[in-house]
Amino acid sequence: MTTLSATATVSTDVLVVAVTPANGRRKGVTVRPDTGLAAAGRRKLEESLGALGATGTTGEITRVPGSGIAKATMVVAVGLGTSPDTETLRRTAGAVARALAGTSRATFAFGSNDVDDLEAIALGGLLGAYTFTSFKGAGTPAPTAALKAISLLTSDPKSQQVRTALSRAGVLADAVKATRDLVNTPPSALSPAALADTAKKRASLHGVKARVWNEKQLRSEGFGGITAVGQGSANPPRLVRLEYRPTGAKKSLALVGKGITFDTGGISLKPPQAMETMKCDMAGAASVLESIVAIARLGLKVNVTGWMACAENMPSGQAQRPSDVITIYGGRTVEVLNTDAEGRLVLADALVAAVADKPDLIVDVATLTGAQGIALGNRTAGVMGNDDAARDAVVASAKAAGESMWPMPLPEELRPSLDSQVADLANIGERMGGMMTGAVFLREFVPATISWAHLDIAGPAFNSGSPHGHTPKGGTGMSVRTLVRVAEDLAEGRFA
Ligand code: BES
Ligand code: MN
Ligand code: ZN
Repeated sequence: MTTLSATATVSTDVLVVAVTPANGRRKGVTVRPDTGLAAAGRRKLEESLGALGATGTTGEITRVPGSGIAKATMVVAVGLGTSPDTETLRRTAGAVARALAGTSRATFAFGSNDVDDLEAIALGGLLGAYTFTSFKGAGTPAPTAALKAISLLTSDPKSQQVRTALSRAGVLADAVKATRDLVNTPPSALSPAALADTAKKRASLHGVKARVWNEKQLRSEGFGGITAVGQGSANPPRLVRLEYRPTGAKKSLALVGKGITFDTGGISLKPPQAMETMKCDMAGAASVLESIVAIARLGLKVNVTGWMACAENMPSGQAQRPSDVITIYGGRTVEVLNTDAEGRLVLADALVAAVADKPDLIVDVATLTGAQGIALGNRTAGVMGNDDAARDAVVASAKAAGESMWPMPLPEELRPSLDSQVADLANIGERMGGMMTGAVFLREFVPATISWAHLDIAGPAFNSGSPHGHTPKGGTGMSVRTLVRVAEDLAEGRFA
């Protein structure tokens, strides 16, 4: 775990100094003011960086010896580009923290005393200082450890505002990293029952109530979607309900997460390549769990109920078949034409259960469709809903939290494509715009009187490419910061 502190003086071997492109016709870089360097040190650093050809563009990292510049062994210059916004600070801090893996302590001098900036730098730094090594064996070389301690240089390190900013950053980073850990954990170690157990333990640590339904209870109480998806696996399904009820809350929020611990596709089996990353298919449920934990730790004044719909989608002699008809919780029937469209089946049960509490807003999160990544790429999530104002408010919360999410429509003409000859609905429909077809299916399970938004995070939940900014390879923790921000916005009456 990386520790975080604030300081007015540099006492670490490594000093990170923010630089920007030099203005005017001058080449080279300008060291940002308020980075704790004396005039001579600044001049020396600018000179060295100039000689090395540094340009100060966003994310550029240049290491120079500290001698003659500062009381540090090494100075790491990091480019911020011209007029960096908050998310640039977050990402750049993350990129630096990643570059400093293997280092024990570093001071970050980004040249800002603004508390929002400090919080962003803190959060980015903590998120960049991430490794997942739980399953590394005795092989050599030993994995490089994440940066152990980050100190932020600021003029007033003891102020209450700075303390609050650092503790908020710590809570958010813990939640995002715990989500990444769950996503990165292989399905051999994370069955639906194990995910539910983890949820119970995490909840009880933070004063959140938890209830778990096992496979027998799910079957007898009519949760036909979760039961059908889970029946092909030797690891039976679970439904988890989390409840956070602070005093003084006026609004209520339900969070619903897709928790497929592994998605083979079932009898509609995926090809091997498409299966490689399918341990990420519980990212929605993990985000719901860790968001509620963060909301509770922050003491937000809003009632939150979390639902984690957990199952393993496997082919077997007991698995559901294409053309089976199942009954979702509450009585609607669905013809399962493709067992690989399983997320919408488990979510349908959980959405109906969430609706029973009549919350002010329901937000579901799911790695629902490959089409999501086709439409918006691997770094932007899609946001849909039954209420344009609520959908746009969630997009605004995402923006405020620094996550990339984009509103998508639910075109009416998609609905008839989900008609079934034999049941109330089919689980697949129009392929073009498949992300929206999935959302149109889910919409059937939420009455128009309750505001509902759906986040499809299939692309951004898992990074199969290179690390970038504060985002590592593997599980990203995408959506946690947005869900916490939605809760904050609801609590503070900023929501539509
Ligand atoms: N879990 C997948 C979606 C997915 C794809 C997540 C890629 C992350 C990365 C989902 O259950 C699925 O298989 N969806 C199908 C739906 C189709 C059968 C309508 C898909 O996208 O092909
Ligand atoms: Mn699937
Ligand atoms: Zn899936």
